[in-house]
Amino acid sequence: MTEQQRKAMIRVDQAGEYGATRIYAGQLAVMGDRAPHAAEVLRMAQQEADHRARFDAMMAERGVRPTLLQPLWSVAGFALGAATALIGPEAAMACTAAIETEIDRHYTEQLDELGEDDPELGDMIREFRDDEREHRDAAFAAGAESAPAYPLLFNAIRLGCRTAIRLSAKI
Ligand SMILES: [Fe+2]
Ligand SMILES: [Fe+2]
Repeated sequence: MTEQQRKAMIRVDQAGEYGATRIYAGQLAVMGDRAPHAAEVLRMAQQEADHRARFDAMMAERGVRPTLLQPLWSVAGFALGAATALIGPEAAMACTAAIETEIDRHYTEQLDELGEDDPELGDMIREFRDDEREHRDAAFAAGAESAPAYPLLFNAIRLGCRTAIRLSAKI
């Protein structure tokens, strides 16, 4: 694995964590702090903020530029969070379940590619992946699958997330 490839990994991961903070910000803007699951969403949002801050610090240390698509992820993430929360609390949970399912797959793929190459990065990805799995499980436990049009919603968001990952690695 080349340095360029590792830099691209950090770039896409920071973009994802940034997008996650925007999704939760959108959800919380609609839900306020008294809605069902608001405390859960707030807790996850705080973990995403920590993930993002740690990737920001790693980018600064290693001289990795952020994705040029950051302004797009800001708007798209917020809109996705707000739209799903407007549908209802279960749809907000379906959004989290879909995103975290995809992020789990993405981080696991990266860990396979990294192997023993970069323990600092690998340890961070492993730690965050475990948090994302816990977010996914919490979202399912909170009724993600009872959302209106759940299969459609779940698959559309997964597809969007995959596309965002592919674009952020390149641009
Ligand atoms: Fe995260
Ligand atoms: Fe997460």
